[in-house]
Amino acid sequence: MKKVLIIGAGLAGCYLAARLQNDCEVTIITKGERAESDSMLAQGGIAAALDPGDSPRQHAQDTLAAGQYHNSIAAVEQLVTAGPELLAQLIRQGMQFDHDEQGQLDFGLEGAHSYHRILHADGDQTGAALTSFVQQQLNNVTWLTQTNVLQLVVEHHRCRGVLVRKTGQATTTIINGDAVILATGGLGNLYPYTTNDDTVTGDGFALAMRAKVALADMAYVQFHPTLLMIDHQCYGLITEAIRGAGARLVDENNQRIMATVPHHDLAPRDVVARQLTKWQAAGHQLFLDISDVPNFEQHFIGVTANLDHHHIPFRETNRIPVQPGAHFMMGGLRADLNGQTSLPGLFAIGEVACNGVHGANRLASNSLLDCLVSAAKAGETITQTTPLTATNLTTTDALTSEQSRPMAVNLPSLAELQQQAWANIGIVRQPAKLQAFINWLAQYHLAELVPAQLTDAQLTIVNLGLCAELIAKAALAEPQNLGANYLVKES
Ligand code: SIN
Repeated sequence: MKKVLIIGAGLAGCYLAARLQNDCEVTIITKGERAESDSMLAQGGIAAALDPGDSPRQHAQDTLAAGQYHNSIAAVEQLVTAGPELLAQLIRQGMQFDHDEQGQLDFGLEGAHSYHRILHADGDQTGAALTSFVQQQLNNVTWLTQTNVLQLVVEHHRCRGVLVRKTGQATTTIINGDAVILATGGLGNLYPYTTNDDTVTGDGFALAMRAKVALADMAYVQFHPTLLMIDHQCYGLITEAIRGAGARLVDENNQRIMATVPHHDLAPRDVVARQLTKWQAAGHQLFLDISDVPNFEQHFIGVTANLDHHHIPFRETNRIPVQPGAHFMMGGLRADLNGQTSLPGLFAIGEVACNGVHGANRLASNSLLDCLVSAAKAGETITQTTPLTATNLTTTDALTSEQSRPMAVNLPSLAELQQQAWANIGIVRQPAKLQAFINWLAQYHLAELVPAQLTDAQLTIVNLGLCAELIAKAALAEPQNLGANYLVKES
């Protein structure tokens, strides 16, 4: 049987595991627990042309327009045509999406969609419902939780396994596999304001960079316009579906912030995030006005619980204080339509992959769909074409004792790195600042540090720092402003 190592416990990794578990020996390796991933936090929903009045063509057009036509047309075609069938299959297996009063699937609207096509589960808890549903199907999988992947093991130009270490421990172990799949998600924790789970720290991009696996579109980081903001700290996502249901962005004077922008509050995310940044720079505060949202508390159960938890008096004011923050990485390991990367034996699926489907700005609620589609395609390829490898790598004691000795290293603190990233590779960028940031990072020689010689906390900083360098260099190299990569000469 083929041995398959899946790194990451989110929807893409678990869905792939579910599809392979009867044909392959599957291990899921995750640095946190099973329930820790961005997929579990996804509020917005999953977009698919399932309504008879909608069509994959329309969904493709919206995806391309939001992505500024920087997308791979083939990847978009694959998403919008394969996605609805995979979703229909899950519904047949018992996955429950929300229905309207007539018992029909209740399709919601989000920014830059021309049709109500977003399915939700348990209101604003779609990601948790869908990922848990898929995880419940896993009955023939080995889980390695609290396990950090330090390095890809490459032999004869093929990925043959991973070097791992349990959280807080020193011993490293090599696990071999016929196929290694990165499903590690994004890099939101590079920034001080993010919607991402604490475990999402750019590990997949750093693993790829160290192994010289091709990366693409690293300039394109999506900032979500609305995170709950209290005293300069963010406390989770305020889903865009609330704007889809009629909420408006306003300032402290109740002036509508998006009034003069095409598509207003439902403009693409990069456009909304920039407009909010402009407004903030002029000294204004940002709020989401929910006066016109019917049945807010019934529809947005998770958001309501979060607001209550933080004592936000939204029932009296009809306002939620918000702030844009890092949400999703459009770039990543360059992957073909089957998730194959530039390194044989290594696949990338979900957010860590860049198959070109999202272009320069992801369309809302396309990411859970991409998790399903990219995982399904990779699964087919792995069962059909991945050869069984002859070598059987084992734990290497020499490597273990040699490399696990901690070294004194000069690193910035995580908070300092995050502040620098926000200021220099955030929503609006400047060429001179990008160059200065690259120079600042260079003093730490991040690419020369050996992961097994770092503590878990140091490794997080190093991985995020490497991602920052990739983003800054890519942002400078892009020939023009496009989607989420927006440069101005000076502020
Ligand atoms: C949201 O609920 O606003 C986020 C959905 C997404 O990023 O697709």
